[in-house]
Amino acid sequence: MGGRESIHQATVAPRRPLSVLLPWFITASLYALLLVLFSTPFLQYSTTSVFTIGKVYRYSACAALSEPTPVANRRRTVSDRFVEGSLDTLILNATIWTGNDTLTGDILLSKGLISDIGNLSELAKEPSHSMHVIHAGGAWVTPGLVDLDSHAGVQSIPIRPSANSLDEKGPHPLVFRTIDAFTTHDPAFFMAAVGGVTAAHIAPDLKHLPWTAGQAFVIKHRRTKEGSAASMVVEPPWNSTSAYYHIAHRVDGAEAVWKLEKAYRQASQIRVAQDEFCSGLLSGDELRDHFPQDAALEPLVDVLRGRAKVAIYASEVASLAAVVRLSNEFKFSVTTVQNADEAWLAPSILNQTFGTQPVIGLASTRHRTSLESYRGSAFAPQVLSDVGYRVAMETGHPSVNGRYLLQEAQIAHHYGLSARKALASITTIPSEALGLAHRIGWLRTGHDADVVLWNGSPLQLGTVPQMVWIDGMLMVNSSGSARPSSPRLRSVMPSWAKERDAARIWDGLPPVGGGKQTGTVVFKTVNTLWTRKNGQIKEDKSLHSKDGVGSKRYGTVAVNDGKITCVGRCQEEGETIDLEGGSISPGFMTFGSALGLGEIEDDVSTGTGPSYDPFSANTPLIVGDVAGISRASDSLQFGTQDALLAYRSGVTMATSHLPGSPKMGGFAIQGVSATFETGSDHLLARGAMIQDKVALHVSVRRADQGKMGIGSIVSVIRRLLLHSDTTNTETERMFREAATGVIPFVVAVDDADIMALLVKVKYEVEDLRGSTMRMVFFGGAEAHLIAEEIAGAKIGVILSPSKPSPMYWDERRATYGPPVDQHTLASTLRKHDISVAIGAKDPWNARNLRFDIGWNMVQGNMTFEEAYEMGSATLERLLGVRYVEDDQSDLVVYEAGHALELSAKPIAVISPTLGHVHIL
Ligand SMILES: *[C@@H]1O[C@H](CO)[C@@H](O)[C@H](O)[C@H]1NC(C)=O
Ligand SMILES: *[C@@H]1O[C@H](CO)[C@@H](O)[C@H](O)[C@H]1NC(C)=O
Ligand SMILES: *[C@@H]1O[C@H](CO)[C@@H](O)[C@H](O)[C@H]1NC(C)=O
Ligand SMILES: *[C@@H]1O[C@H](CO)[C@@H](O)[C@H](O)[C@H]1NC(C)=O
Ligand SMILES: *[C@@H]1O[C@H](CO)[C@@H](O)[C@H](O)[C@H]1NC(C)=O
Ligand SMILES: *[C@@H]1O[C@H](CO)[C@@H](O)[C@H](O)[C@H]1NC(C)=O
Ligand SMILES: *[C@@H]1O[C@H](CO)[C@@H](O)[C@H](O)[C@H]1NC(C)=O
Repeated sequence: MGGRESIHQATVAPRRPLSVLLPWFITASLYALLLVLFSTPFLQYSTTSVFTIGKVYRYSACAALSEPTPVANRRRTVSDRFVEGSLDTLILNATIWTGNDTLTGDILLSKGLISDIGNLSELAKEPSHSMHVIHAGGAWVTPGLVDLDSHAGVQSIPIRPSANSLDEKGPHPLVFRTIDAFTTHDPAFFMAAVGGVTAAHIAPDLKHLPWTAGQAFVIKHRRTKEGSAASMVVEPPWNSTSAYYHIAHRVDGAEAVWKLEKAYRQASQIRVAQDEFCSGLLSGDELRDHFPQDAALEPLVDVLRGRAKVAIYASEVASLAAVVRLSNEFKFSVTTVQNADEAWLAPSILNQTFGTQPVIGLASTRHRTSLESYRGSAFAPQVLSDVGYRVAMETGHPSVNGRYLLQEAQIAHHYGLSARKALASITTIPSEALGLAHRIGWLRTGHDADVVLWNGSPLQLGTVPQMVWIDGMLMVNSSGSARPSSPRLRSVMPSWAKERDAARIWDGLPPVGGGKQTGTVVFKTVNTLWTRKNGQIKEDKSLHSKDGVGSKRYGTVAVNDGKITCVGRCQEEGETIDLEGGSISPGFMTFGSALGLGEIEDDVSTGTGPSYDPFSANTPLIVGDVAGISRASDSLQFGTQDALLAYRSGVTMATSHLPGSPKMGGFAIQGVSATFETGSDHLLARGAMIQDKVALHVSVRRADQGKMGIGSIVSVIRRLLLHSDTTNTETERMFREAATGVIPFVVAVDDADIMALLVKVKYEVEDLRGSTMRMVFFGGAEAHLIAEEIAGAKIGVILSPSKPSPMYWDERRATYGPPVDQHTLASTLRKHDISVAIGAKDPWNARNLRFDIGWNMVQGNMTFEEAYEMGSATLERLLGVRYVEDDQSDLVVYEAGHALELSAKPIAVISPTLGHVHIL
């Protein structure tokens, strides 16, 4: 069914079937009658003139204009979304975050609503009241999370990278209705619910349509019995005069502003004409019989009348200023400014919009994917929130998997947003922005029963839901996975004042800076020291053996010219730094993205430029065979923002290879990777290049392929591995080295069938050559399906993303992991004795490695060392990074905790190679 059948449209669409028209007809008649009876001006007309259908329409259209703007809902005892027959649920003994307060007590869910919050244990004893009783044991309960920006159902999964954007097929961009192109069976709904996200604002994908608008909707992540898209919508505006429409625009560049301005000007004229028409009707002007309107512009008329919530995607300062100008010129309130990456650089601008101050939608660390997001900052949520804005964290699913909205808030909290505001940013603030604060985003009596029972404190890394209810219906049940949960919401987070100020001074692009300290630096109050021993991460127990102070056994570590010279009780003189229970551990390595091979993903002018694609282009003779194999070491850029931020987050090394991006035509052969120091200034700096030839990389992923199919690629790979014998071409030489195990052969692959094929290729090559290949799978979403075979073939797996999900076709059989499954993919593979490491596909994500590993440690029940090696020793071993000696590798110094905790902050890097301590 059509999503938007507004009152206005219905009035001029008399050819609709009667079943559709009837309710409108009745409503229209009622309005007309009411108006005639109760409003004095209408009494001037003869009542008979009302009783012709056309006129009734005109009156009702005019009556609709004078309706009040949508108002918060009345008190309800049964939800309109209640599913008959579902039992009540009583959650006992919970720590309840209501939306503005923490209570201890019980919650009763009944008829799709929260029917009571208090001390309700007596209810459980009533024999007549049959219900589910959940003993929360003090665990945290919050409102279901609300994602202010998702494309679930619109860009449904599995994502089809080559498919045209649905939106582009629309007849007129202004009338896009997300709901008309809505996939009701998108697994993303369940996936989001598994993450505790119960509702989302679904906007059209405006990426390719820089100036247009579309209608958005707020849905619940619960498929209904009816199965229609409309039935997932919370308060469908076409069905209720008390609900808002939702409109989304993108303002990005001068052309977009100009076109939008033109559209708003036309909409304003229509609005004026409508008002004139209606006052004409009032004064008995019988000549005009068409209510003025334009279906394409009607959404904007709704915005101007305050009947629609408008979300504007605008990132750069100039675009934000344009939003302010349009809003004042046409006098409409902007509800949300989304992707507002540069808002923090000029915080006073958005305060000048017409009407209510907009909510600002942000991503925690997903920046620098485009020029518009280049200056985005992890500090933005706090900066904007401190000056009084309401900030909402959002995923833009599938840009960031909508399931991990909570993690967006956790990271924002880590970088300075207060705990209450971090929780509000994914509950109360988005619900308010959407005009639905009377239903969702809060735990209050009478609100929808969208409730999450967590297995830990919501702002603690690795917390996942134990149980999730939507409209009182249980969506996720993994009771028994509870961990002792801290009754405190707030764990102490680091202070980033210095970094935040530097970021502001440098307009978002601070240099790595910091001080280089030679001579002796003494770190005191060190809780733990981990170092590398024979390529493994080991705790140095001597830290505690000599120095026991009280119950907390902290020690001291002295470093002289970049080398640890004393551990335990040290009397060395030198600069002293108090770690406040912090720790020291080896630097991480990131692998899998184009980190260091470009600055902005979408901007080729900042990248390495195209490589010759040996599969599709006729390479010039002079290029010869070199075209077949690109070496990342020939394309490295030092000092990119993502590399510097990774360095400052404890990721001191990166191994990168040229990506096989479909945008670039899709290469199967991605060339040879290089390992470099993320904090180095240039290629020739000491220690900058760690290893210029690391592994040979190929991609056998459907999403990466351009012109060749999987079968062709596998046969080319097989032929090159089996028969590369001459040494006179670069391609053959590299494949020969890979075939004989001189260098690792890293295959980007997620599909289990393709992995199985590669296992066969490996055996074939080894049989023919009598060699042992060092094959590694990168991606590995479906590796659990053939874990035994992978283990048997001694193939390592670098998981990327670290928490796999069925986003692409090749990943369709990915497991959900906790809380749906008992184990993470990493722990399942490790049980089979497979070497597992963790990679990152996006350069911006390299800095989050320690959080990815921390999540896996908590959910996978791993020891610190086991988890840590997934981002260091094991990763290096799988990739064949050899030149990292135990005593030559960087150590990272963390204040207030260890690397895998949100509370800890990297404050220094100890570099034996450079002979100094780099104070960050
Ligand atoms: C939370 O909101 C409720 C309802 O608006 C109010 O009664 C209560 O005082 C608020 N609590 C806090 C801590 O602000
Ligand atoms: C339940 O009772 C306890 C003790 O009287 C009180 O502290 C608590 O606030 C009550 N909880 C609620 C949600 O009313
Ligand atoms: C509530 O849970 C806490 C934490 O598990 C426990 O100590 C307490 O005894 C429980 N209270 C009741 C009334 O069950
Ligand atoms: C629209 O409202 C009618 C009457 O209240 C209700 O029966 C129907 O289920 C509603 N439809 C949707 C999609 O909410
Ligand atoms: C917004 O404007 C109001 C009133 O002019 C002012 O009090 C407030 O500080 C401003 N906030 C920001 C973020 O500029
Ligand atoms: C949740 O799962 C547990 C364990 O499987 C089961 O005992 C319990 O009945 C389930 N709860 C509900 C409300 O379905
Ligand atoms: C976690 O690991 C510990 C020690 O390795 C083991 O005793 C415990 O049973 C494991 N817990 C789970 C839930 O697997």
